[in-house]
Amino acid sequence: MAKVKIVEVGLRDGLQNESTTLSIDQRFELLKFLLDAGVKNLELGAYVSSKWVPQMQGTERLVKKYLQSIPAAALKKINGSVLVPNEVGMQKAIESGVKEVAIFISSTETFSQKNINCSIAESLVRVKAVMVLAKKNKIKVRGYLSVCFGCPFEGEVSESKVVELAKTLYKIGCYEVSIGDTIGIGNPAQVERIFKKLKKVIPVEKLAGHFHDTRGLALTNILTVYKLGVKTFDSSIAGLGGCPYAKGASGNVSTEDVVNMFEQLNINTGLDINKLVKVNIWLSGLIKHELQSKVSRALKEQNL
Ligand code: HMG
Ligand code: MG
Repeated sequence: MAKVKIVEVGLRDGLQNESTTLSIDQRFELLKFLLDAGVKNLELGAYVSSKWVPQMQGTERLVKKYLQSIPAAALKKINGSVLVPNEVGMQKAIESGVKEVAIFISSTETFSQKNINCSIAESLVRVKAVMVLAKKNKIKVRGYLSVCFGCPFEGEVSESKVVELAKTLYKIGCYEVSIGDTIGIGNPAQVERIFKKLKKVIPVEKLAGHFHDTRGLALTNILTVYKLGVKTFDSSIAGLGGCPYAKGASGNVSTEDVVNMFEQLNINTGLDINKLVKVNIWLSGLIKHELQSKVSRALKEQNL
């Protein structure tokens, strides 16, 4: 049976952009619910400055709870990573015992400055330093490239720049490069064109799609790149999140909607849609706005 890999980013990309800050206990509860629904690949949080992203404060405590309370046999089957922007974050990752981190750079200079307070060139120096520490400590590194289909500050983004930077992430040792539609502005024709170019420089099995769903095209974009051979997609439970730098930008495409689409197509995700909907219901009591998943809304109304 055909299958895809879903990387759950709700605990990081989702929660980092919510105005409701969850406690560590609530984040851990969410983590356990996600694992129970079959999640095997996920981001646990971020080791970033809490002045910049207060919602991610306490990720060390969450990781500690995760590593201490989940049985070792189960942990072996889970890829739990933490987002790190620099060596300070990487040092925290090493100390906390995670086996995987995610690094991130941007396709435009202005987004890079706004997100991590440095130029693209400086960010590459930082991620290369992270990579040295990762290799030394046998930690896997996943790479993100942001604003690949449009930037909230610069508008159109150079496609050759996207391809060049994605290739750089791959060449410096990222085992997977996730191509980000950070503000959910990409369309299927553009996404197809750019992924076709990316496939020429990075093996398709090393590429992932990271689509936010601001304009409702995330699922269509996902299916478009799936047809090009991409089998890994990032999504966020209940479509949590947004982008602090783009007014009106919504969160990642919801995990439930992605799972529903692939399962309807007989493509296995390994995730249990009914359990995911229950997580959505639980979250709706905590997050103070309407959650995004269309399939969750439908199943809730049918009194699952
Ligand atoms: P800065 O202010 O330029 O850093 O921030 P600095 O080196 O001058 O340090 C300032 C303070 O931060 C110092 O502490 C450092 O020790 C501390 P102080 O002396 O003031 O007490 N510091 C740190 N603390 C914790 N963790 C660290 C760290 N590094 C320095 N790693 C910095 C630069 C990169 C730290 C900051 O800009 C930052 O944390 N940015 C993170 C922004 C962020 O998390 N954005 C969201 C994630 S990216 C994303 O969502 C896109 C993605 O989803 C894909 C897509 O959709 O496209 C991945
Ligand atoms: Mg994102």
